Order: sequence, then C-alpha cells, then structure tokens
Amino acid sequence: MNRSTKASASGREALARAENSRGLVLVHGGAGTNAFELQEAAVAGTRRAAALGLARLVELGDSEDACVEAVIAAVRSLEDDPAFNAGRGACMTALGEFEVDAGIMRSRDRQTGAVASVRELANACELARAVMERSDHALLVGDGAQRFGEACGVGRFGRELLWTDKAQQRFEQARSGQTPIDNRADTVGAIAMDRRGHLCALGSTGGVLFKLPGRVGDTPLIGAGFYADATLGAALGTGVGEAIMGRVGCYELLRRAASGVGVQAAAEQLCQEIHRDTGAAVGFIAVGRDGTVGMAHCSAHMSWALAREGHEITGALTVDP
Ligand code: GLY
Repeated sequence: MNRSTKASASGREALARAENSRGLVLVHGGAGTNAFELQEAAVAGTRRAAALGLARLVELGDSEDACVEAVIAAVRSLEDDPAFNAGRGACMTALGEFEVDAGIMRSRDRQTGAVASVRELANACELARAVMERSDHALLVGDGAQRFGEACGVGRFGRELLWTDKAQQRFEQARSGQTPIDNRADTVGAIAMDRRGHLCALGSTGGVLFKLPGRVGDTPLIGAGFYADATLGAALGTGVGEAIMGRVGCYELLRRAASGVGVQAAAEQLCQEIHRDTGAAVGFIAVGRDGTVGMAHCSAHMSWALAREGHEITGALTVDP
C-alpha cells in the first residue's frame, strides 16, 4: 500500500480561508476506513460537532478557557454518536471488552490531562478534563482512573453505554479472520482557538480493533496524540497509534510547522513519512499560533469539519481515490 496524503481541493480552500483568524473549531472523525453505510453519518457528525463547539465558543465570548469548553462540547457530541470509534461506537478489545483513552491540553499554561485503558467509560473526554483540572497528575490509567472519576462524579460507566451492533459485528469479523484488522484504527478529536487566542486540543478513542487488553495508543500520550502550547500551536493525531508514537507525532508536526513550512505542509510531510515507513493509516489536524489550519491523512478515509466565526461550516469525508 502506498497511499498519498489527502487534502481535497475543497478542503484546502476551506483551510486557506481559516488562515489568520480567531474563534474556530476544527474537528476530525478519524483516519481509517469508514464503512460505506457510515460515510454520510461521519460527515454529518463531524459538522454537528464543529457547530456545537463553535456555539459554545461564541456563548462564552472572551471568558477564560472558552477553548476548553468548546472542545468538550465537540468531542462529547462525537463520543455520543455511534458512527465513530469513541464513546458509544467504540471498538472492542480481543476479549470483546471496551477500553478507552483520551487526552486534553490547553495552551495558556500547558496543563494536560489524560486517561488510558479505562473500562466501559462513555465520555472519556470529561474524565481527561477532570484529571487536568482536578488532580495533581497528568495521566491516570485503568481502575485508578475509574476510581478518580467515581470520586469526582465525572464519567458514565457501563457496557451498555458503549456497545453498538457495529462494534459487535466488527469484533466477530476480526475474531473469525473474515476481515483484516490492520489499519482499523480511528479516533475523534477537536482543536479550538478562542477569542483570546488560546488553544485547546482534545482527542478520544476506543483504540484499535481487537487490541490486546491493556494496550494504549497515541491518543492519551502528550506530544504523540495531542499537543497545544502558546508558541507552537495545537495538533491531534489519528490512525494507528503505534506508528504515531515513535515520531512523537503532534509535537514533531508543530515543531516542523514553526520552522517555516506551516501546519498544512508539516502535516502532509509527516503523514507521508510515517506511512512510507510503517504502512499504517495515519492522519493529523493542526492549528498554528496564527490561526492557520492544516489537515492531512494517509488512509482510505478521514472525516473532518471546520467551524469559524462568521463563516459557514465546511466539512467532508476525504477519500483515497
Ligand atoms: N489513534 C488511536 C489509537 O491508536 O489508539
């Protein structure tokens, strides 16, 4: 497989229009393979999430942490939407269970929060935020993360909250060897820039289909799956985490962008390099300090949407031709 990086013509135009602006929410619904019957749902879901995030951003005006509230609103919507591999709709482990990961970072003080390998958690984004705001730690895992959530009253737990017929079918297909399980990763995420120019990046995932219990991907790992600071900007990774982690993908993307190439070219370069070296499906979204927006993927599909104050929402499922 040697797929080229994708950023459709309409996507590029939309991204270019977002340059040098403030008050925006950029959302993705995962780099991977979207089943045909879910493609429309993926586009609608990412657009809805971007709209919800922007509405929250506008509602909060120039209040502190408007960007945090905006990404939570967007990612909550994606987690609650069964079309995506996060929250309700998450994929199963090799034991047919659910273990989810999420990570958040805000630029104004570089605070981060993440949770990993948490069983049967429907809204991992909320628990990651609680780790950032209500603990002295940056990453909590497994039972400890669940106990923290229960102590804080954050997070809804229960297999029935995550289970979907889609996930059950994919698990059965993987177990019987009917479908390859490679490159069946995706993730959801959102980056917001608020009116103060602060950035926040948040990703959430069910991980990769048929993963070993206890496996953790890039999504809850700072620098690999998510990053935001006031100097470099913000980025999120999606796709097969093992391929992204070795490159510390998000930090590497932003470091390259800041060296002069910009976030779009840096995202394209990094996707191509990772895909060339590993063959894995990967993707990134990024927002530079100046509000420049970038998106690239090397995968069959990636859904995304951009909502910016004063502009119509744009979004698409970009496809490997
Ligand atoms: N990017 C999601 C994962 O690898 O878990």
